[in-house]
Parts: sequence; C-alpha cells; structure tokens
Amino acid sequence: MTFLAQVTDVRTALREGFAQLREANVPSYTLAAELLLLHVIGRDRTWIYSHPEEEIAALDAERYFALIRRRANGEPTQHLTGKQEFWGLEFEVTPDVLIPRPETEHVIEVALDRLGVRELRAGRRQPLSGEGLRIADVGTGSGCIAIALAKQLPAATFVATDISSAALAVARRNVTRHGVANRIHFFECNLLDGFLDSPLATRHSPLGFDLLVSNPPYIGRREAATLMSEVREHEPEIALYGGEEGYELYADLIPQSAKCLLRRGILVLELGHNSLPAVQPLLDASTWTNVGITNDLAEIPRVLAAERL
Ligand SMILES: C[S@@+](CC[C@H](N)C(=O)[O-])C[C@H]1O[C@@H](n2cnc3c(N)ncnc32)[C@H](O)[C@@H]1O
Repeated sequence: MTFLAQVTDVRTALREGFAQLREANVPSYTLAAELLLLHVIGRDRTWIYSHPEEEIAALDAERYFALIRRRANGEPTQHLTGKQEFWGLEFEVTPDVLIPRPETEHVIEVALDRLGVRELRAGRRQPLSGEGLRIADVGTGSGCIAIALAKQLPAATFVATDISSAALAVARRNVTRHGVANRIHFFECNLLDGFLDSPLATRHSPLGFDLLVSNPPYIGRREAATLMSEVREHEPEIALYGGEEGYELYADLIPQSAKCLLRRGILVLELGHNSLPAVQPLLDASTWTNVGITNDLAEIPRVLAAERL
C-alpha cells in the first residue's frame, strides 16, 4: 500500500511540490521544487520538462517529498542539495559557509575590470592571465570569490583567509573540485592578521598583494529580526553579522589592506545595503585613489573599489 501510494510521475511530483512550498510561503517555490527534484533524480531541467509523464521510482519520490517537507520547514534549498552555482561554477555548500549570492559576482566583475585597466595602463594588451599576480581573499567562506578569480586568471596565485576552520574545510574541498588547489593557500586568521607578522604568510606574499578582495560579514545584529528566517536560522552567524551596526569590520580591514597591498594594488570590497556612508570615509585620500562604487541590479551600492597610492 505504501509503495502504491508513492508512485508518481514527474508532472505530479512537481505540481505537488509547488503546492506544498507555496502553501509554506517559500520564496521562488517553483525553482526550489525543481532543484530538489533534479537533485533526487539526477537529471537536468530540460529532461524534466520533456518527460512530464515519466514515472519516478518510489524511493526517489519518497526522498523528494522528504526534501520538500524540509524546505517547507525553512531549510535552504542549497543545504538540501549541498550545492550552489556562482560565476557559472558549482560550489559545495554546507551550513558552515555562507551560500554564495548572485550580487557577489559584481566583486569578480569589478576586480577583473580593474586588473584589465591596470594592464592597459602598463601597455600590455594580451588577455589577462594573472601571470605574477598575488591576490588575497579575506573571509573566503566557500572559496567562491578566490576560485572564480582563479578560473579567470589561470596564472595568478592566491591566499584566502577565514576565521572559521569549518568554512575553510569546505573551501578546501571546493578548490580541489575546481582543480585550483595548487594556487590557493588558506590561512585561518582574523582578517589579515596572519599577514601582518607571520613568516609563513610572508613566504606566500613576499612583496604584498596586487589585488585584495573581500565580502566580509556586514549585517548589523540590530537588523537580525528583519532577516528572512531561513537566513537567520540556517546560515552561520559569523558569516552574517559584522557587529551591532554591521560595518564594524571594515574599520580594521581597510587599514590592514593598505599595509598588505602593493603600491597601485587594488582593493575590492562588497558592501551591505546601507554600508557605503560608513565605509567610504575610511578610504582616506592620503592612502587611496580612484575610488569607485558599483551598484547591483537592485541599484544598491554593492561594491567599493580603490587603488593603493
Ligand atoms: C559574508 S561571508 C562571505 C563568504 C564568501 N567570501 C562569499 O562571498 O560567499 C563572510 C566570511 O568571513 C568570515 N569571517 C567573519 N569574520 C571574520 C574575521 N574577523 N576574519 C576573517 N574571516 C572572517 C566568515 O567565516 C565568512 O566565511
């Protein structure tokens, strides 16, 4: 009886999944149900819409509806599938790391633009390979920023720091998955502390960095109640909150970056939705030049970039 009750086809499974997630007010509920079904049956999106009448094995249907229930109860889809796409690459995610967000792709775009402009200014017109470039990613989490840049700049070398050893374990698996483990070196430390005085770090950055990128935690604890519960209850606090106001970490990160960047080195920081007025004044004109702000698709000032004098 149980077996018969669980026999279903693709169309019915999707419709039922949509209905349960809509009922639970899950945002983007059709996408969530599709991703969960794809994850369980190991097919792609084209297949599910070209085979709506295909029967789903009873065990798969059971697994799918169990995931739908967990999603309806608030667990993020990415924690149920264990993955998230970023910059066209698939990353392992767990509850130990921030789920990579689409707006963070602007950090990659700005960093590549700035490096490209620098190359042009230096009179080099070949495609950017990153030859000789040393790049730092502070608060690497899943490793998504460093890995996306490593894929774009196949000759660059990287250091990536995080205060969370659990996050670094996920980032290490992601660099192996993407074949860039030999070019990204990890350090467990507070911001760039390890680079201000450690001989080991100095070996990885003997002359300082050409580019420093960071998407630090920037949500204010006082805003916590306004977060969606699936974020507040399922993503790591250390990855979300930058302090009571949110922008506190930038006050240490920017002067540390000034010490670790080469002359003409580039700093690219992701910002919280209201961080700009507090963060921009930290870039004093005696140290930084060419300050630029890039808005995200929602017109929120999302990326702050500057050049070290
Ligand atoms: C907003 S998440 C960004 C993760 C990833 N770079 C991304 O863009 O998806 C911030 C990361 O910074 C780390 N972090 C928080 N405080 C830190 C600190 N003081 N020093 C270094 N890393 C820190 C967190 O563990 C988390 O992985």
